[in-house]
Amino acid sequence: MLTVGVLGCGLMGSGIAQVCAQAGHRTVVREVDEALVEKGLGRIRAFLDAGVARGKTTPAARDATLANLTGTTDVADVADADVVVEAIVENLDAKREMLAALERVVRPDALIASNTSSLCITEMAASMEHPERFLGLHFFSPVPVMKLVEVIRGLATGDDAYRRGMDFAATLGKDPVTAPDRPGFIVNRLLIPYLLDAIRAYESGVGTIEDIDKGMQMGCGHPMGPFTLLDFVGLDTTYYIANIMYEEFRDPQYAAPPLLRRMVAAGRLGRKSGRGFYTY
Ligand code: 3HC
Repeated sequence: MLTVGVLGCGLMGSGIAQVCAQAGHRTVVREVDEALVEKGLGRIRAFLDAGVARGKTTPAARDATLANLTGTTDVADVADADVVVEAIVENLDAKREMLAALERVVRPDALIASNTSSLCITEMAASMEHPERFLGLHFFSPVPVMKLVEVIRGLATGDDAYRRGMDFAATLGKDPVTAPDRPGFIVNRLLIPYLLDAIRAYESGVGTIEDIDKGMQMGCGHPMGPFTLLDFVGLDTTYYIANIMYEEFRDPQYAAPPLLRRMVAAGRLGRKSGRGFYTY
């Protein structure tokens, strides 16, 4: 059993905190204010309750998970963590500030990981005092369901941190893969151009949104078609990652299609805003 700190209790942070607590780790999850702590913990409770209702978990296992979880607004409360996973907003400056605050309070031997989906691990580590103990651990949504974790070594990540990162992912029941510190790592490197291409296909009249989704779902066995997945991931998130990939590679396959940019501008962000390619 480890002590784990999770910074951020949004969609990803709450999922990460849940799987840590479920694995038996004493887990402290930090958000900026009480309302966000409560919202994040509420999301975890709802997922666990739904799991009980569906017979996926037992009331005793749910209660054991919740007993391993503590919410806080104070970074100092993760001071005795063996592992800290950062899952705050995707913004380099905010993450660097968070890492600096973290390094002031954590033990010197604590492993520090970021769940970034798009930022450069080496760049995030550059302002750290001990970049050798820092790496990327990229989880997938919904975190309690998706088995994959990408383990990303920055230029400064030490061998020990890399091994601990792989081992930690395994303690969560995840199946880790090693991914390069390049925009998109492995999965988004392939997924984002696919999603962008689906929008281009729609824009050029290949089919309706429903038919393109049905095509990929029924024809290729994908659990969701591209537009359902875009709404699920968030159009703003997709747009943000695409722009970072385009910035780095200057390859048109990563360029956001006009419709995506306009939908983000109009606030049609997918499930989170109630409307994306579909209405919720
Ligand atoms: N408790 C326990 N298990 C639960 C659960 C709960 N409350 N809710 C769902 N599950 C599990 C169940 O084990 C279920 O498995 P089963 O088939 O054995 O019953 C499985 O989740 C599927 O659940 P449902 O049947 O309720 O729902 P769906 O079949 O509609 O699946 C989904 C939902 C898992 C989201 C599926 O549609 C899916 O896999 N979609 C694709 C998700 C995806 O691609 N994610 C990656 C996004 S990219 C990303 O995250 C990277 C980022 O950087 C952008």
